[in-house]
Amino acid sequence: MNSERYAAEFVIQESTRENQFRSIWTHDLVEVFSDVARYYDRANNVAALWTINGLRKKFIAGIELHSGQKALDVCAGTNVIGIDLLTKQPDLQMYAVDRSSAMQKVGQQRAQERGLHIDSTISDVHKLPFPDNHFDVVTLQYASRHLRVVEVFEEIKRVLKPGGHFYHCDMLRPANKVIEEIYYLYLRASVGFTAWLFGSGAASMNCKTYFIDALRVFYSVDELSELLRQIGFVDVRGTSKLGGTVGFHKAVVPADK
Ligand SMILES: C[S@@+](CC[C@H](N)C(=O)[O-])C[C@H]1O[C@@H](n2cnc3c(N)ncnc32)[C@H](O)[C@@H]1O
Repeated sequence: MNSERYAAEFVIQESTRENQFRSIWTHDLVEVFSDVARYYDRANNVAALWTINGLRKKFIAGIELHSGQKALDVCAGTNVIGIDLLTKQPDLQMYAVDRSSAMQKVGQQRAQERGLHIDSTISDVHKLPFPDNHFDVVTLQYASRHLRVVEVFEEIKRVLKPGGHFYHCDMLRPANKVIEEIYYLYLRASVGFTAWLFGSGAASMNCKTYFIDALRVFYSVDELSELLRQIGFVDVRGTSKLGGTVGFHKAVVPADK
């Protein structure tokens, strides 16, 4: 992270996040997603009390797509976003990138069952394996908490064409302190229950508290909007959902990038 370019609070927060979670991000999460791939979609539904599909429909509804465009879903997991985008705009050229081959294997099966083609690349997303100015649209859902987010957002800006659109959705830190603490109580119960219900392995069990710790030092909707502006996106719009526990962001690459 180029510390001269960003406000001091972002430099401090990114370095706090990295120091606290480097080892989990680099090692443990690889095992976690390998373990949960087989039941990831069902577990998400239970953990989010069946709100997840409705939220995703709203996120997808806000994404502007045109015929023949190239779209990339970063940290694509089981391809839920790629499948929805292709259903919305069938002649999209859809690409997915994720470092978990287990998650992408499930994602490829899901796409094939629906007769859809998603070009899959297995890679860490801190360096996106795509040329500059390559995509019209990039999406990223439910993964930024696990990333050095500034680096990944800079990469997303690099691979987007001038005027290209970035759409982001993630669990965020609620700006309201009361909602924040109630939310963590709920998450503690729901992560524990879901892990028990689906018979999670040791790696996932060890990360149960991480999922709350990662949110405590993550960004609120407004903070993430400001971070996107400092990275150089324009027309940034952040929308708070479910009391700020989830945020949708749209950000545009300047035409004269
Ligand atoms: C919670 S899942 C979200 C999947 C999908 N976007 C969704 O909305 O269902 C997080 C995904 O991010 C991927 N991931 C985490 N860190 C990554 C990294 N550094 N590089 C590539 N993928 C990563 C994981 O493998 C996992 O598939």
